[in-house]
Amino acid sequence: MSRVLHVWLRGRHLAELEQLRNGRLRMRYDSEALDTWGIGARPLSLSLPLTEKRVQGDHLERFLDNLLPEGAVRGALERQHRIRPGDTFALLARIGRECAGAIQLTDDDGPAPDGHLVPLTAAEVDRIVSNLPTLEPPEGEVVSASLGGIQSKVLLTRTRDGWAWPAAGAMSTHIIKPEPVTDVGPADLIRWEDWTLRVARAAGLPAAHTELADFDGRLALVVERFDRTHGRRSHQEDFTQALGVAARDKYESGTGEERLRRIAVDAGVEAVDPVGFVTELVGQLAFNLIVGNGDAHSKNYSLAIDETATFSMAPLYDVAPVYLLNPMYQSFGHSLDGTGRLRHLTAGHLVRESTSWGADPEVVARTVATVATRVRTALGEVVAHGIDTARVAEGIDERARAALEVTGSAS
Ligand SMILES: Nc1ncnc2c1ncn2[C@@H]1O[C@H](COP(=O)(O)OP(=O)(O)O)[C@@H](O)[C@H]1O
Ligand SMILES: [Mg+2]
Repeated sequence: MSRVLHVWLRGRHLAELEQLRNGRLRMRYDSEALDTWGIGARPLSLSLPLTEKRVQGDHLERFLDNLLPEGAVRGALERQHRIRPGDTFALLARIGRECAGAIQLTDDDGPAPDGHLVPLTAAEVDRIVSNLPTLEPPEGEVVSASLGGIQSKVLLTRTRDGWAWPAAGAMSTHIIKPEPVTDVGPADLIRWEDWTLRVARAAGLPAAHTELADFDGRLALVVERFDRTHGRRSHQEDFTQALGVAARDKYESGTGEERLRRIAVDAGVEAVDPVGFVTELVGQLAFNLIVGNGDAHSKNYSLAIDETATFSMAPLYDVAPVYLLNPMYQSFGHSLDGTGRLRHLTAGHLVRESTSWGADPEVVARTVATVATRVRTALGEVVAHGIDTARVAEGIDERARAALEVTGSAS
């Protein structure tokens, strides 16, 4: 098997990735990429600046590994493709032609694969979704797309004629995530996710568009990909990739890592407007704090990176008030002023944390207060489907009022 993979970004060749005999990976950026963006620019990842030298080491391997699913979903793909567990390179050679963001990996040197769409009948879509976590492609097809995360899901393309299977690196437009079959995690999780994302949007925060749909009796969340617009890929990476953190360490441990400071400062420098970037980050953190998202780890926030290698925050996704559903889920995922447990966290921690990065305390307080006020209004506007949100909404409202008190905006 080839020991070289080609790395494409927005359909243009960016780099060559090589697997060494000892299994480690090494990448070399193309000279055209250096000419386009210049040494030190970060068009692929905050953690992988352009350089003339070969890129190798943990950051590279973790970035690539974080393109793949986690846990049992990854295990199933490894078995399906007969790949040794943990062999990131070999799995990407099979399913790396369609990933999160605008990166594609291929084992031939081009051009970047367009793939093709295989139209699906409604019955085939029902079968594919209702069989998850077993991912059974349509007759004669294989899985050629990859996405991070722990939940089983399928990537499909919505066309004018219905759903299609994106084959051989074709672009998917939607993520279909059914209600998990195991009872790990709170009940009705995808209904909560759908409701919380609609609350976020009603509160004026950029967030993934979702709808709930029934596939032969199996309820699923249909998530519109925000990294696919007008038939083109836009680029993004999650915070683990930006920080060079392994998927298994997606929850910040609280031992001086300062993940949020690194995002705010390092990605902020690469933003059009660093102050605006920090405000977007604070807004998303405030939202997750207020709704009690006890699973807001580093794979549940992403950075968008545009054609000029400029950074902004990608919209919110994978949010749910899990702490208010079950206080066992109380990890905020990131440490705010040294604290990471939702039980102890207040808006005061967020204000102190972000001012420690150099953010203006007044701007931070205003941002948190705006999110809190708008969430309170949104709670009264957003209709829930199939879940009774009264108790959770009351809990969110209470947390929003507490945030307003901290920021001195309580009415
Ligand atoms: N709407 C979206 N548009 C683009 N990428 C998304 C979107 N939602 C999620 N993703 C990407 O897909 C990954 C998995 O989705 P997520 O909903 O977080 O699944 P899980 O519940 O398994 O964690 C995310 O980490 C992110 O990289
Ligand atoms: Mg997730």
